Amino acid sequence: MTFAAITGWGAAMPPNVLSNADLSTFLDTNDEWITSRTGMKERRISHVGATEMATLAAKRALACAGVDAKDVDLIVFGSCSPDEQVPNSASGVQVAIGATRAASMDLNTACTSFLYSLSTANAMIRTGVVRTAIVIGVEHISPYMDWGNRNVAVLFGDGCAAVVVQATDKEEGLLGEQLGCVADARHTLRVRGMGSGYTNSGVMLGDTEWDFDGQEIFKRAVQGMVQASQAVMQKCGVTPDDIDLVVPHQANLRIIEAVVQRAGLPMDKVMLTVQRYGNMSAATVPVALNDALVEGRVKPGALILMPAFGAGLTMCSHLVRWGDRVTPIATIPDEMPASKLSALDLVNKIRDRKSQSHEASHDGLQGARLIGAK
Ligand code: UT7
Repeated sequence: MTFAAITGWGAAMPPNVLSNADLSTFLDTNDEWITSRTGMKERRISHVGATEMATLAAKRALACAGVDAKDVDLIVFGSCSPDEQVPNSASGVQVAIGATRAASMDLNTACTSFLYSLSTANAMIRTGVVRTAIVIGVEHISPYMDWGNRNVAVLFGDGCAAVVVQATDKEEGLLGEQLGCVADARHTLRVRGMGSGYTNSGVMLGDTEWDFDGQEIFKRAVQGMVQASQAVMQKCGVTPDDIDLVVPHQANLRIIEAVVQRAGLPMDKVMLTVQRYGNMSAATVPVALNDALVEGRVKPGALILMPAFGAGLTMCSHLVRWGDRVTPIATIPDEMPASKLSALDLVNKIRDRKSQSHEASHDGLQGARLIGAK
């Protein structure tokens, strides 16, 4: 039987840090509120676009796996904030890394996009459609943030990580997953202005407003992640005691604590990044997985549970059996480009631009490099 092992991993984090104190320079909020209600201390703001972050993460993941870009069959770009809709962003990564043989697709289930992308790649590998895939979780959400709304502006950040997934005969990689969507709650998280449905609606492109019912999302998220985690453990015949590491979506420390407690898992098995990166939507789980590997928290043969939820409200929980190797085969010298502006400068530019959103899409200030643009 064919399985789909995760053999490479790499992150590409924006260098610019936005602290709780930075947020309180333009919002009626403070470090005490944000820390006690969410666990967040800081998040990253990117000066480059999602495709550029994804390209670096993909190159690092390929080097880590010892795989040549020309041997990649599939690229799945999990994100709700791609640089462009047409062409898709996966094709931008493809051309930038030279994966000339690959098929490329974007996949959007909001915060769960990386895990749904992993399911997609896993299914295609296990059914023999492809043998080697790059799965990306990336978000450049800061240009779409409603920076005047303290209910959401304090929660999110930018970031990216990627994994390489390869066909193997060993029982490794994704052992099972539970997917779902509580669609009757889809109105609780909506970004107004992202999509053709807003044509002539009075909302300008780039002038996004968020509908966000935090308490309702909180409840649904806890229920959904607990149910999905219990279902996948049952399907795969494992108990909470068998789990070595939990790498959850990181929307709020209190949500994570409630999920692991109800699922019968101890907090010391949980990989936490919420303090330093906030909620990076689709990038959250792969960045946390990457950091767990870098910090030596993934042991050979480890059983890893990855529960997540996002707008939709999409829900899932994935169970992964890690392989023998927990260190990269190779690394590359490439780094994120330096930024002339601080995170707060970048946010203030986006805020300024919201009042002049006509010009925004033309001056390139947000730094998205449109791959192949003339
Ligand atoms: O990946 C999916 C994304 N979605 C989520 O992660 C959402 C999940 N929800 C949550 O994480 C929490 O509901 C929040 C962190 C969003 C909010 O926490 P909460 O404990 O549910 O707070 P709340 O909405 O009940 O607000 C409590 C108070 C309110 O003031 P009053 O009415 O008690 O006077 C808010 O106006 O806190 C106020 N508040 C703030 N104060 C300072 C709300 N946001 C802030 C803020 N700074 N940023």
